[in-house]
Amino acid sequence: MGCVALCRLDEVVEGQARGFDPQGQGTDSLFVLRHGGQVRAYRNRCPHLQVALEYRKDRFLSADGQWVICYAHGARFRPEDGTCVHGPCRGQALQALEHQQVDGWLLLPLAQLER
Ligand code: FES
Repeated sequence: MGCVALCRLDEVVEGQARGFDPQGQGTDSLFVLRHGGQVRAYRNRCPHLQVALEYRKDRFLSADGQWVICYAHGARFRPEDGTCVHGPCRGQALQALEHQQVDGWLLLPLAQLER
């Protein structure tokens, strides 16, 4: 299993996030964001109850873009490393996903989603 191209890198805008469903499951299994200029990718699964975080398409962040939010119970995660700093799963973390940046594209190795 190889890599999938998620989007162009310049489509991931500072302070915003985007969800992706690379396996065609009908729900976004991962999301990417840009924070402090750096692109990060995380599995879309809250460590509290293993549910999706967003309340509607692509709404993974707080209104000011400074935190990842799980809208089920309001857990707050640091965008730079996925650590929960507030909420029922405090001290746990989102699963960070490896990704690659090639020729202006954001690529993600699919095998890590099988785990
Ligand atoms: S399921 Fe995410 S905070 Fe409860």
